Amino acid sequence: MSGSSVPGRDGDSEEFGSIKGSGAHAGGRRCDLIPIPVLWEPEEGAFELGPRVEIFAPEQLAREAQVLARWLERAQEGRRCVVVLEENATRKCAAHIVLSLSQEMRCAEEYRLDIGRTGIRIEAADEAGVVRGAASLAQLAFSRGNSIAAMRIHDWPRFSWRGFMLDCARNFFRVEFIEKLIDLAALHKLSVFHWHLTDDQAWRLEIPSHPELTERGAFRQDLRYEVEMKKGGFYSRNDVERIVAHAAARHILVVPEIESPGHSTALLASHPEFSCRGGVNPSLQFKPQDHYGIFEDIVCAGNDATLSFFDEVVGELCAMFPGGYVHMGGDEAPKARWIDCPRCQRRMIELDLRDARGDCAPEKLQAWYMGRLSAMLRSRGRRMVGWDEVIEGGISGDTIVMSWRGIGLGIEAAKLGYDVVMCPQTRACYLDHKHLDTPEEPGHLGFCTVRDSYSFDPVPEKLPDDLARHILGGQANLWSELLYFGRHAEYMLFPRLCALSEVFWSPRELRDFEDFSARLDSHKRRLDALDTLYYKGMLS
Ligand code: ACM
Ligand code: ZN
Repeated sequence: MSGSSVPGRDGDSEEFGSIKGSGAHAGGRRCDLIPIPVLWEPEEGAFELGPRVEIFAPEQLAREAQVLARWLERAQEGRRCVVVLEENATRKCAAHIVLSLSQEMRCAEEYRLDIGRTGIRIEAADEAGVVRGAASLAQLAFSRGNSIAAMRIHDWPRFSWRGFMLDCARNFFRVEFIEKLIDLAALHKLSVFHWHLTDDQAWRLEIPSHPELTERGAFRQDLRYEVEMKKGGFYSRNDVERIVAHAAARHILVVPEIESPGHSTALLASHPEFSCRGGVNPSLQFKPQDHYGIFEDIVCAGNDATLSFFDEVVGELCAMFPGGYVHMGGDEAPKARWIDCPRCQRRMIELDLRDARGDCAPEKLQAWYMGRLSAMLRSRGRRMVGWDEVIEGGISGDTIVMSWRGIGLGIEAAKLGYDVVMCPQTRACYLDHKHLDTPEEPGHLGFCTVRDSYSFDPVPEKLPDDLARHILGGQANLWSELLYFGRHAEYMLFPRLCALSEVFWSPRELRDFEDFSARLDSHKRRLDALDTLYYKGMLS
């Protein structure tokens, strides 16, 4: 992930005549896409997508061409899309779709989409840009049927980190469902899937050298049935390979998360020796029937064996996930336990981790502990991501900070030189919150309307450029303490995720809630066609 905002590139002012920045309307037509593209211009006529479509692409774009082919087939029952690999595919024209890369584009994920009467061309700066252009074309095919009005689009993202997080620890979601969400995310031009894999309630990732983690930590008794039923599951190496490949084809980066030092009770279920008490504490023991976060514990930062264990886990994790980023948690750690632990006390004294009054400082111990995890990742060529608590007590400068307790901590982190992803829980990015503040709506802790999500901006106005540069983007988070089904997850995500996709991709000057609401009307047809449940009530 690089830099942050990229609007206002040089040389665009002449392009597309007077419509630059005019947003959704031109020539009496509405640009019916979510997120809204940077530049678009309607043209005369339409392209007829027949029952057999040929997509020409160079070998290098074979995977991207297949993604487009599957989307176009889904948009129309019975359509057959054939990918033809040809190095000089750009010479093809009539009644076909042609994909190519261009040296002239300078921005990652930038693309041009030209829909003419006789053919469609997607030209992009890189492979990711081809998929972003394909997502625009697929959206039109889903909502417009076989006749796609002619137009030209030139588009690129505002932020590189356009994320969504799924909590697969509190509720286990099937691989097929995760693939469906990744596909939907790609159709909305998101770029990061943050996969929350462990928490107090479960450890979901198979670590081959430590099978006990999932044997003890991946299943709980489900109390909703009279007969004894175990509920849960975990992701095997093959499952991970499948998800990573599915995401990679759509140019979505998978960022796995293993939580510590807090939110780690499921780990301590199989390794009580890593807790501060060094053994099973009956009052804190992981009970299979526990359902919701009423228990919490912390791993012992004074125990060298804890760190050796994490080194092994991080090694296996990095072998499974090729992406450059790993999230190690760091939030809501009950650090008070460290004060009562002789080993943690010893560590704080040895390392002189003290506050201004000279007392042992557990925040500094957490910073030291997270620093050790970050060094384990760095030695394997990865960069650590952590929740915003990680800046308390100091952490190495290459850490990416996820600002979840509002955006203030993200700004503070940017001032300290950290790169930041904004995902505040306060009526913006926590999509497990209710859609409306009414007793009938399902949801958790608070509420957040579609308009709230749409009104959010990862970069507050007037933030100086040197700080804004540190804000990589934003992320939607879906926690699953109260979610039991994929359908319910869809209902919580949509259409707020559509709103956030526009916040993360499109230029701020094109933000217009009334226009977004109008576009959402036809977008709902796409969600229907994709068999996706969404909230249908008031948007604000
Ligand atoms: C969080 O919501 N505890 C990151
Ligand atoms: Zn301890």
